[in-house]
Amino acid sequence: MKKLVPISLMLALTSPFVAAHEEGDFFVRGGLASVMPNESSDNVLNTGELELSDNTQLGLTLTYMLTDNWGMELLAATPFTHNVRTDGLGKIAEVTHLPPTFMGQYYFGESDSQYRPYVGAGLNYTTFFEEEGFGTLDGTNVELDDSFGLAVQVGLDVEVTEDWFVNASFWYMDIDTEVETTVGTFDAEIDPYVVMVGMGYTF
Ligand code: NI
Repeated sequence: MKKLVPISLMLALTSPFVAAHEEGDFFVRGGLASVMPNESSDNVLNTGELELSDNTQLGLTLTYMLTDNWGMELLAATPFTHNVRTDGLGKIAEVTHLPPTFMGQYYFGESDSQYRPYVGAGLNYTTFFEEEGFGTLDGTNVELDDSFGLAVQVGLDVEVTEDWFVNASFWYMDIDTEVETTVGTFDAEIDPYVVMVGMGYTF
């Protein structure tokens, strides 16, 4: 009997309750994702550059761990809608987009570390739809081209239980488009920061 105590103690120390992100793990994160454009564009009819409002939606990431440290991830979300304006014209459009993004990621620490900071790089595809003219462009056709671009991210997962963790992540995406309107075609860089905060679950 006396020998069982140190053995069980040793087992407890070497197989901790918390096991965060190991090879073969598949996990999801869900939370609030805010898209904050860092836009710049052609000057629209001498009324200023196109400006886009921020928008917050539900974000979802799916991640598979190839090793204890390397993962690949897909970002999905409910559609983001932004108001588009210029200083001189005020609001001229509303645009909606989905920015699915595929990332390769490196997670620092060990599979049993409670804190797993990570970095990632990958490819963003953004598709625009439901573009609608307002004000000067009311009732006219507005179209934004889809965009392929690079994305980078940093994030942190903190294990709460064996299956659940909390997450915060920060992205920068290169999203460039062409805005076609009845008054002209304008190049625009949206290049947003995306901040996501939420919970994760490991299957
Ligand atoms: Ni850009």
